[in-house]
Amino acid sequence: MRVLVVGSGGREHAIVHKLSKSSRVDEIFCTPGNGGISDIAECVPIKATDLAGVRQFAIEKSVDLVFVASDDPLALGMVDMFKKEGVRVFGPTRDASIIESSKVFSKNLMKKYGIPTASYETFDNPEEAIRHIMETDMPVAVKADGLALGKGAIMAHTREEAVAAVKSIMDDRQFGDSGNHIVIEEYMVGREVTVLAFTDGKTVVPMVSSQDHKRAFDNDEGLNTGGMGAISPSRIYDEELSGICMDSIFQPTVKAMADEGRQFKGVIYFELMITENGPKVIEYNARFGDPEAQVVLPLLKTDLLDIIDAIIDERLDRIEIEWFDRASACIVAASGGYPVDYKKGYEIEGLQDLEGTEDVFVYHAGTMKENGRYLTNGGRVLGVTATAENLDSALAKAYSSIEKIRFTDMHYRRDIGKK
Ligand code: AMP
Ligand code: GLY
Repeated sequence: MRVLVVGSGGREHAIVHKLSKSSRVDEIFCTPGNGGISDIAECVPIKATDLAGVRQFAIEKSVDLVFVASDDPLALGMVDMFKKEGVRVFGPTRDASIIESSKVFSKNLMKKYGIPTASYETFDNPEEAIRHIMETDMPVAVKADGLALGKGAIMAHTREEAVAAVKSIMDDRQFGDSGNHIVIEEYMVGREVTVLAFTDGKTVVPMVSSQDHKRAFDNDEGLNTGGMGAISPSRIYDEELSGICMDSIFQPTVKAMADEGRQFKGVIYFELMITENGPKVIEYNARFGDPEAQVVLPLLKTDLLDIIDAIIDERLDRIEIEWFDRASACIVAASGGYPVDYKKGYEIEGLQDLEGTEDVFVYHAGTMKENGRYLTNGGRVLGVTATAENLDSALAKAYSSIEKIRFTDMHYRRDIGKK
């Protein structure tokens, strides 16, 4: 069959790579894809947010399945569009992906259904928000309501910082319309874990746990980024915690969405803070995480296409999903200056030295291919990923691999997976 994957990052490379291993997949297209994806799929320069363009392409090529992998087209209703068109499609509808695209919605959902999360208030005008800040203990998290490339949450340790955050989101419109509403919430202390889960709207099957590293620099310093590296499984997520999360968070969330008439089918992402008082939700995403997909998918033993089919047909309870009993680590090579300001177009060298290295795979994020050379084309450039029998070996292998790669101003964290 012919599959179209919509998106262009390291996550999409990991998805395309996994799908390319399925015996039932004959041809893969990716809109728009990137330099690395173009080695294993036909990349077509149509933006993921160009709904009409993607529709026309999918129909022209008579694709059998569309996998909407990234957040923007989900929030714009790409899944709804293909459903209406009668094209088989994987991902949540617009009504369901609101769990990611509106923090106000997701916080209110958790409150209504008793799902543990940080206490919060929502605001649609800056004066009220600032008044609230003056009466609240610091620190707090100030968050834009809408999508903001993973950068819309500002941790404020003082009232001055909190006020500045409100102003930058609501007055200076740092995240555009995403900042029309904001959430100010309790600052939670604990360890972070990500759990992605497959769900058909009724059954929830968690994947192996993972952990992202959001800050730009070592020791969790610098700005929040889309993610600078990930490990799987998490070092702290054990059977007991997994049982608690299943009962208090995963199942209640999927049921809540169904009860709200927003049945969620696809991959749901639970970002969790493991606090003294148990696990709490930091946020939801309506899709695979990036870079979490790069560490979780290599550990998936079951054919991804079989899982996708089971989700679309709502029979996830009838398949068994298996994982390799291994660990994986992904180190992101970013452009110097990311997440603020960075240049593109530098040649990436050393990739050929890694070709054929066992259990190592370099997922491309912001790259393009020109005359057989790979060039940097984004903030996050590559996700150098390795799997091994345990986490420390996977990390050692990923780090020894990334050392072979060079491009001007390349930056990566040296402490992924250490904590
Ligand atoms: P978000 O965009 O909501 O995923 O937040 C980005 C990052 O900010 C998270 O990965 C956490 O490290 C941190 N964060 C967000 N909300 C909170 C909170 N309420 N308390 C503590 N840390 C938070
Ligand atoms: N790694 C965080 C995200 O995908 O949003």
